[in-house]
Amino acid sequence: MSNELIDLFLLDRGRTHFNHASFGTPSRALLDQAQESRHRFEADTAGMPDHLVPGLRAAASRIEASLGLTGGQAAITMNSTEANSALAASWPLGPSRRVALLSLEYSSVVVAWQLACARAGASALVIDLPLPTTRQAVLTRLERLPSDIGVLVLSAISSTAALSLPLAETSALCAERGIDLIVDAAHVVGHGPTDFSLPPCAALFASAHKWLPGPRSVGFLWVADQLADRVKPALVALRRDTATLAERFSWRGTWDPTPALMVEPALAAVAGWRADGLLDQAVATADASAAALVGLGLVPTGDSTLRTPRLRAFVVPDTTPAVLEQALAEAGVVAWVGTDPTGPTILRLSTHIYNDAADVRRLTDAVAGAVRRI
Ligand SMILES: Cc1ncc(COP(=O)(O)O)c(C=O)c1O
Repeated sequence: MSNELIDLFLLDRGRTHFNHASFGTPSRALLDQAQESRHRFEADTAGMPDHLVPGLRAAASRIEASLGLTGGQAAITMNSTEANSALAASWPLGPSRRVALLSLEYSSVVVAWQLACARAGASALVIDLPLPTTRQAVLTRLERLPSDIGVLVLSAISSTAALSLPLAETSALCAERGIDLIVDAAHVVGHGPTDFSLPPCAALFASAHKWLPGPRSVGFLWVADQLADRVKPALVALRRDTATLAERFSWRGTWDPTPALMVEPALAAVAGWRADGLLDQAVATADASAAALVGLGLVPTGDSTLRTPRLRAFVVPDTTPAVLEQALAEAGVVAWVGTDPTGPTILRLSTHIYNDAADVRRLTDAVAGAVRRI
């Protein structure tokens, strides 16, 4: 099953893996390195909080640079969820400064902003975007935002629908309308083949365990200068009122900072895979999977301009999530199956350096079985 590179990870070789994007898959090498780092910390646990900040700052700067962000302040968080919750709890909102999100956004991200709006006496606007969709359909909805929208939360790469949303156009639109653009970049860091460079925004958050091979969990938060002083962790902990974003997020009660300190070697591992052409190969595997699935009647969730390198999703007609899940499980294929809030059954794949042509055949045979069962 898969090519020999699967042995770089701890994945079960008896199955075919197309879902590292949900929670990440750390490499054996980085897990070992993390264990050594933990042992060093154990030599002086009382000194841990004080020794932490420089390492966290360095990790945040590396991610910031990989995203092409400049100015503002950056911090390491546990994950996207923590970073988004902090933004929602801290951002200025009110009846004339409501939040808008598309229906395809990650559900806990939507709920965090709905709760924040409710606390501010307002309601969040969740805009239905039926799948499959197009770049134009997304832009048309965003161009029609009502005048009381002060904040737009948009994924760089969306979760279930796996779409690379039109950030550059949206950033320009938000600048023109005085809307704060907050970018959910949970699926961006390490998702090659090239590094992303993001257009201007007011804040951005990401997870660094989904596409980097370091141990989970690591998140990232970046806030533009004008609001950086205002953003505080939603979890009340020591250092809440310190001067910089990096310090404020450096202590969340007693925690294990080791995964955060593995960001640098994890980025280096991805750079090595890129240089060796392995990420291009993983993109080619994603393309081959997509072609085969389209041949079975599945429909990509978005037009080709919304395609991401290695995260692909499809509307699966004439089946149910339960039937599809069962067919994949029987074939030993691991992929994400669920429904979009607007209704359709979705199959989502993420490809990695260990996937090969035999994996694509196993996947498509399993899906063909599910489509025929209806
Ligand atoms: C688009 C998006 N945002 C946020 C999250 C939450 O990420 P995490 O669980 O790392 O906090 C996810 C998780 O899959 C996601 O896909």
